[in-house]
Amino acid sequence: MSKAVSVPDLKRMKQRGELIVAVTAYDYSTAVLLDQVNVDLILVGDSLATVMLGHPNTLPVNMEEMLHHTRAVARGVQRAMVVADLPFMSYYTVEAALENAGRFLKEARAAAVKLEGGKPPQLAAVTALVAQGIPVVAHLGFTPQSIHALGGYYVQGKSLESAKQLQAEAELLAKAGACALVLELVPPTLAAAISSDLEIPTIGIGAGPYCDGQIQVFHDLVGLGADYVPKHAARYAELRREICQAVERYAADVRARRFPEAEVMT
Ligand code: KIV
Repeated sequence: MSKAVSVPDLKRMKQRGELIVAVTAYDYSTAVLLDQVNVDLILVGDSLATVMLGHPNTLPVNMEEMLHHTRAVARGVQRAMVVADLPFMSYYTVEAALENAGRFLKEARAAAVKLEGGKPPQLAAVTALVAQGIPVVAHLGFTPQSIHALGGYYVQGKSLESAKQLQAEAELLAKAGACALVLELVPPTLAAAISSDLEIPTIGIGAGPYCDGQIQVFHDLVGLGADYVPKHAARYAELRREICQAVERYAADVRARRFPEAEVMT
């Protein structure tokens, strides 16, 4: 077993120009596989809500559900850094952030938490969590928990003014002690500028090739997504098709009495 990836490792990777590979996972079996192939960071994303639980967006998932899935993922991981997403309204005060983030580390063996936004309430939460020794991954750009405020799945930071605002928030989050920053749906040039500006690594999703790492939702990556697949999703397998074909073959064998074979049971 190699040593678990730590916060200083992420910083060292950036300094050495080694790109961080991050993928989401929500269950034990997937976590085992991702860890086996040396994914550096496994995010138990609140995309759990849409991908695993069938909600229309990430807002309905709650702490108990996130804890349940984070525990399962952590049981399967030896090397990767396990990061748990603080769900919507679980960090609206510093006290709530401390309470809920603490639960992820104490009860579910996460190594860090992630939260969305870089406005004063989130900056205060990051400062307080880091002061308690809880590593925080920040998340800027398209922040899915603000879907209603943002009005849809749109690229953020396209105007000069909004780009400057995002860059300023990124700097403040790094100053507050965030150990990494997810940049979702921002123009590649802005992601490049933020990445070169910050000492902490940026991890992009739909943010172009100049981040210090990349993250993808597991189900998008392997073609398992049931509903909406974002444009920026990388597709490295078509498991949905394979699974359907496998189960169809099984069903045909059962119906034709080809499975199980008699001698298997004797
Ligand atoms: O919840 C999630 O899966 C995420 C990633 C898209 C970064 O936040």
